[in-house]
Amino acid sequence: MSVLKAEGLGKIYSSKGNVVYQALEGIDLQVEAGEFVGVMGPSGSGKTTLLNLLATIDRPTSGLLEINGVDPSKLSDKKLSLFRRRELGFIFQDFNLLDTLSIKDNIILPLVLEGISPTHIRERLIPISERLEIAHVLGKRTYEVSGGQKQRAAIARAIIHQPSLILADELTGNLDSKAAKDVMESLKEINEQIKATVLMVTHDPFSASYCQRIVFIKDGRLFSEIRRSTNRQAFFQQILDALSVLGGNFDDVPFARA
Ligand SMILES: Nc1ncnc2c1ncn2[C@@H]1O[C@H](COP(=O)(O)OP(=O)(O)OP(=O)(O)O)[C@@H](O)[C@H]1O
Ligand SMILES: [Mg+2]
Repeated sequence: MSVLKAEGLGKIYSSKGNVVYQALEGIDLQVEAGEFVGVMGPSGSGKTTLLNLLATIDRPTSGLLEINGVDPSKLSDKKLSLFRRRELGFIFQDFNLLDTLSIKDNIILPLVLEGISPTHIRERLIPISERLEIAHVLGKRTYEVSGGQKQRAAIARAIIHQPSLILADELTGNLDSKAAKDVMESLKEINEQIKATVLMVTHDPFSASYCQRIVFIKDGRLFSEIRRSTNRQAFFQQILDALSVLGGNFDDVPFARA
């Protein structure tokens, strides 16, 4: 079953009715339940624009979008924000955790908002925090844990309400290589064990090598796609090769890190 279906998706930024910039054009993208997909492309290629459309934060100017069988453009603003809260999970580069809350309260926030009972919340929280190896820091505040622990808490928050699609934007961007590796290992495990569907935008070929499939975009259009067939190290090499064909600004890429 497709969790995400985009057909001919396009986005034109305009101001006061004047076309300013065609940021995306003719994007066809399908993501099946349980897939782990990466999106890569040079700076300015339209990655954030695409993610904002999929996140239903912004609306496409052309094409069709369906998430879990629902076209978000057909929903009222109120229904849309409920849809977003229930069907989507977000993981951001800068974690977006609330500093005034404990790690635990950050994680369970989506369930509290839904009015789920404390018993059910516990039943979800315990296995997830154990799986992400943050059970021992649940009582701490965000400033008392490491960057990697913060991001694993953010992953827990993104999945605790069992959304149909998890969207991640440069989730390892603020982490050192050890923490990035831990976070990617955790995300891969979550994807494999609870069949969470993940779409992740990244600049980093190392993080991308954890995906099953990468789509590359260039100048707002789909450029190519590769699928992982063998081990992660080989896929890392394939990604580097694809990036060199793609061109563009990847100067900041750490090329020696498989
Ligand atoms: N609100 C806006 N109004 C007009 N143009 C925009 C707007 N937002 C983005 N753009 C343009 O659309 C293009 C795609 O931008 P986008 O932010 O999606 O790129 P990106 O792939 O995420 O880049 P980066 O890797 O640098 O984050 C860029 O040329 C950008 O300047
Ligand atoms: Mg961006």
